[in-house]
Amino acid sequence: MPILAFETSCDETSAAVVHHGRVLSNVVSSQIELHAEYGGVVPELAAREHLRNLLPVARSALGEARVAVHQLEAVAATQGPGLPSALMVGLKAAQAVAFVLHRPFLGIHHHAAHLYSPWIEDNPPVADFLKLEPNVSLIVSGGHTLLVHVQAELAHRLLGSTVDDAAGECFDKAGKLMGLPYPAGPEIDRLADGGNPRAFNFPRPMIDDPNDDFSFSGLKTSVRYFLRDHPTLLDDAQAMRDLCASVQAAIVEVLVTKTLRAARRLRVRCVTASGGVSCNRALRRELATACEREGLTLKLAAKTLCADNAAMIGVLAERKLALRAHETSLDADILPSWTL
Ligand code: KG4
Ligand code: ZN
Repeated sequence: MPILAFETSCDETSAAVVHHGRVLSNVVSSQIELHAEYGGVVPELAAREHLRNLLPVARSALGEARVAVHQLEAVAATQGPGLPSALMVGLKAAQAVAFVLHRPFLGIHHHAAHLYSPWIEDNPPVADFLKLEPNVSLIVSGGHTLLVHVQAELAHRLLGSTVDDAAGECFDKAGKLMGLPYPAGPEIDRLADGGNPRAFNFPRPMIDDPNDDFSFSGLKTSVRYFLRDHPTLLDDAQAMRDLCASVQAAIVEVLVTKTLRAARRLRVRCVTASGGVSCNRALRRELATACEREGLTLKLAAKTLCADNAAMIGVLAERKLALRAHETSLDADILPSWTL
């Protein structure tokens, strides 16, 4: 029987229906335009939008999946981490549905869901955990940069994370300094296409540190000083492309180098990546090149599942239910700072 899942941890309102690993529907309503005006996500606005959108999004997800509410076997939602007021909307709605239907409720860890999202095939969207092998997983988004050792299904250990800004935040803040609209990541990706990644030399913070942590605020600061000293570059279209390519190359090199180093050290034969920044074409390309060179398998989240979505929440919830790993109380609260 199918599972209905909600994701409302940040600025995407999403509902999905999953059945036997198959994503029957995955409806995502993005609030990017609403927050763009403020240059970042405004928590109270996000919560209000989730309240407005969740019901229509859930209706669409059930309709697309051709599943009636009474056919649901369980209901799941992101329990954390994320913005408290935003998490609250999806969690409490899911618990209410589970209560009315007398079905189990599952509160899902947002990052754990990202971890397993590369195992959801794209077309058709089906999760195949039988193929899962031990891996090092890179989760890169606007809020997080994490390296995780996945030993087996539902067995994972955090290796490192960012000590300051997330990789996506670095894309967005560097882009803002260059006058690009929020979120700047996709625009930098696009402009970098016609640019020279070696035109300007930006720092690769912590690239040689033996630990698995990241730091991106220094890179953002160096872009700020560089632009202060070379303000006219912003008026030159080719210089802008070179700038985007050079900043992107610095971020990507740090992410790829540290991910591959962890994989080598832990002797895993597989690398995975997910999160909004894993849409970045240079990152996907460089990870592919590095993994091929080292004879590693690379599993990238499908482009439609990189950013936040309820499909990954539903897929993990179904596996947890099947493995009897977990059922969450209907009174359970949000866990905004839940660690992996
Ligand atoms: O996972 P996500 O949708 O939301 C969370 O932050 O949880 O990730 C959004 C982040 C933003 O920082 C955005 O600029 C970045 O992902 N992003 C990209 C690309 N697409 C999205 N960064 C670089 N290149 C891209 N193509
Ligand atoms: Zn996320």
